[in-house]
Amino acid sequence: MEVKILCLVLLCVTVLSYIYAPIPDNIEEIWKVKAVDSVAKTCAFMATLFEYIGLMKYEDIFLTLSSLHLTKPVSDENITVIDTKFSDIPVCLYLPKKKSEILRPAIIFIHGGAFVLGSCKAAAYDDLNRWTANKLDAVVVGIDYRLAPQYPFPAAFEDCVSVIKFFLQEKVLAKYRVDPTRICIMGDSSGGTLTATVTQLLQNDPKFKGRIKAQALIYPGLQSLDTSLPSHREYAHGPILSREMTIKLACLYVTEDKALPQAILKNEHMPEESRHLFKFVNWSDFLPEKYKKNHVYTEPVLGKLKASYPALLDSRLSPLLASDSQLQSLPLTYILTCEHDPLRDDGLIYISRLRNVGVQVTHDHIEEGVHGALSFTRGPVFLDLGLKLRDKYITWLEENL
Ligand SMILES: *[C@@H]1O[C@H](CO)[C@@H](O)[C@H](O)[C@H]1NC(C)=O
Ligand SMILES: *[C@@H]1O[C@H](CO)[C@@H](O)[C@H](O)[C@H]1NC(C)=O
Repeated sequence: MEVKILCLVLLCVTVLSYIYAPIPDNIEEIWKVKAVDSVAKTCAFMATLFEYIGLMKYEDIFLTLSSLHLTKPVSDENITVIDTKFSDIPVCLYLPKKKSEILRPAIIFIHGGAFVLGSCKAAAYDDLNRWTANKLDAVVVGIDYRLAPQYPFPAAFEDCVSVIKFFLQEKVLAKYRVDPTRICIMGDSSGGTLTATVTQLLQNDPKFKGRIKAQALIYPGLQSLDTSLPSHREYAHGPILSREMTIKLACLYVTEDKALPQAILKNEHMPEESRHLFKFVNWSDFLPEKYKKNHVYTEPVLGKLKASYPALLDSRLSPLLASDSQLQSLPLTYILTCEHDPLRDDGLIYISRLRNVGVQVTHDHIEEGVHGALSFTRGPVFLDLGLKLRDKYITWLEENL
């Protein structure tokens, strides 16, 4: 009986959020986006409710959903797929079968999921990596880095660094017949965060400088200092990715202490000694006029949170905190932003900062785009938008890697 009541309540939540969710009508395939958005909102509602009554942790529902669609390493007529380990960290390798006289380019793929969810084995990512390997005749390396909250900051970052340093060894590149001058790191969402931080680390290390030819960031999150950027305000309720859900999940990479997400939701989480860092993420300076609209810049409220979290001041969590001289050395960069995305302005600010110091950046802005579209290229939800994003990014790689 109780289960039936619960199901009825959840169905009502889904239907109501379908009907009432304020989704802008310039989004393509709007009814499908609305359906995904309703499911996401229902999950967020259940997660909050179940956590409140002590049934499960906030992230558990999302974990269950994201683990439904994992693939086995299945080779096809064009690509050999192998699960192996680099430096003790699981990786998925996609190796083209056709003979090649010349060495191949390589793409290192870092998946998204707020540092808490996801795997390079997720069906949509498996499709993407297969497609990339075949289309570009490239070796693709997907990294299954450790996830929070079990493995907090900087575990994910360290795993990505270990895998990439292992892969960059001469003998490993030779084994997979990879051209050492044509290597790109790519990631979406929190995978974009990791891509940006790892690339910064490698480019500023004399031993690895110049080894990465390009980085590609797809709707990346790039800072956690200011959570009241215009895009956070405009798209606080999604579609699909809401500000609250993102903050609650991504905070687990830093701590399981609930005081942090609560403070971040109010944008009152940074300590007094972080004042000098706000110049790196100041949207009033770096956002193109078109996106500022009528938003008014608010100065940060500092020192309200008792506990302090060193990760919040760390450029390995917020790559926008790197100084101009650190950014200067970055390689060719591709950034894709979606309009309907709370993380939109992170990408836009990074583009301004990189261009200011002379880094070559290609920017695709998808006006009708929503966050996470790359993950919806497979049933049960198939968005043409996902393939459109994929093709834009692949075209850039074809021309630049
Ligand atoms: C193999 O590659 C060819 C040529 O690119 C393509 O037409 C075919 O669909 C690919 N097969 C699979 C299983 O992806
Ligand atoms: C942000 O930029 C605006 C405009 O340039 C400036 O007035 C404000 O003081 C800056 N705030 C911080 C914290 O850097």
